[in-house]
Amino acid sequence: MTDHAFQRCIHPQCGTTVELTSTTFQCPKCGGLLDVAYDWNRLPVPTSLKHFESKWTDRTNPLNFSGVWRFRELLPFAPDSKIMTIGEGQTLTRLSDTVGAYVGMRPGRLYLQYEGMNPSGSFKDNGMTAAFTHAGLVGARRAACASTGNTSASLAIYCAGTNLMRGVVFIGSGKISYGKLSQALEHAALTLQIAGDFDDALRRVQEVSRQLGIYLVNSVNPFRLEGQKTIMYRALEALGWEVPDWIVVPGGNLGNSSAFGKAFMELADLGLIARPPRIAVINATGADTFYQLYEKHGVRWNGGAPDGKKVGAYLKMLDDSGAKADTLASAIEINRPVNLPKALRALERCGGVVREVTDQEMLDAKAKIGAGGLGCEPASAATVAGLMKLVKEGIIGPDERVVGVLTAHLLKDPTATVAYHTSDPKTFEDVLGKRGVKRVAFANRAVQVPNDLEEILKAIELYA
Ligand code: F0G
Repeated sequence: MTDHAFQRCIHPQCGTTVELTSTTFQCPKCGGLLDVAYDWNRLPVPTSLKHFESKWTDRTNPLNFSGVWRFRELLPFAPDSKIMTIGEGQTLTRLSDTVGAYVGMRPGRLYLQYEGMNPSGSFKDNGMTAAFTHAGLVGARRAACASTGNTSASLAIYCAGTNLMRGVVFIGSGKISYGKLSQALEHAALTLQIAGDFDDALRRVQEVSRQLGIYLVNSVNPFRLEGQKTIMYRALEALGWEVPDWIVVPGGNLGNSSAFGKAFMELADLGLIARPPRIAVINATGADTFYQLYEKHGVRWNGGAPDGKKVGAYLKMLDDSGAKADTLASAIEINRPVNLPKALRALERCGGVVREVTDQEMLDAKAKIGAGGLGCEPASAATVAGLMKLVKEGIIGPDERVVGVLTAHLLKDPTATVAYHTSDPKTFEDVLGKRGVKRVAFANRAVQVPNDLEEILKAIELYA
């Protein structure tokens, strides 16, 4: 099966192909990003997406149980015997009318896809299982990533769960939430705290991986993105294989948006869907390179030749002014998204838009998502805050069908949540106030009650 899969430069003008087992993840000719590509004509492609429903009856086969690998005909780069799975992708896509009402949509139109249900609590596991499968194919013994916390948690749990490789994680010093740091430590990854931020750590890990021959699992690795395509297959599955009008997703390193675009491009090219949905990518205002380049500087895919001068000038401006990404949504605190060209391609093909939302908007949206019955971390709430903005602008209609991706679990970052709901002004100020958050419109304050039966009964009657 694997001789039908290879890697290929994403730029059509170059199109250089690279063998499947290469681990440099960079075009040797032009330095561009690589796709995993397939010779679909020689592969058994299903004629309808309904085909995948047959897998549901066979949950004792780990490959059919996995929410990634039950779609393996659509990411066919490894034989079944080589697939590394720990049971990822058991997520749900739930209709959410309360959150829909909050953003100004009519009932029955907004679905939230909860990727917090993955083994490590974030969407990253969809990609990590695919990267580990590739790493197994090439015989890697060590794997590394730079991370704002979720990739490192995922890498650590796959190392522990598969026993395939030793994990090394690079994190920006003081830039990771305790929930995520605890995962890297508990799952026994070598954890290096670098004096710097994510962008610094990513540059370093690429250098170190090259030098020591360590397998890199950041989303510059195209196999990660193959696994993340399945997030969209599950969205379609939940909608009875109907294509929604919009997908809304937070943007950090732009791995997800790139993977979603590739998923829909392939499905459309294979004749499995009639049209792709539109994609909205949401940045944090404190880390909004993609928003600036796409919406303000007009940078586009441009047939595979995005305006490198504009991009270079923008990044140089960031460097020269010493600007660092800065948002409470630490997961997407990224100013130099490595997948920028792939994300431009995705938005081109899907008719995309980019928006930015403030920490205040994300935290308010997060509280509403929680009150609606799904718990996510601040970065994930960018989805709902951005959707609200797009509905207000009239870009997304109140009757359109939308799938918003909630990328990670509430418990990833309890500090932000407690600070939002606290009645202690110091806790609020230390975490949120000093970062510019002013209102806590949807705070659910704990009620202080003496240890006295009468008082407790009174409090319940008063508040519940
Ligand atoms: N949401 C969460 C919870 C994330 O952890 C990330 C990225 C994103 C959104 C952005 O996704 O990079 O595909 O655009 N976290 C990375 C990490 C960078 O290191 O865990 P993207």
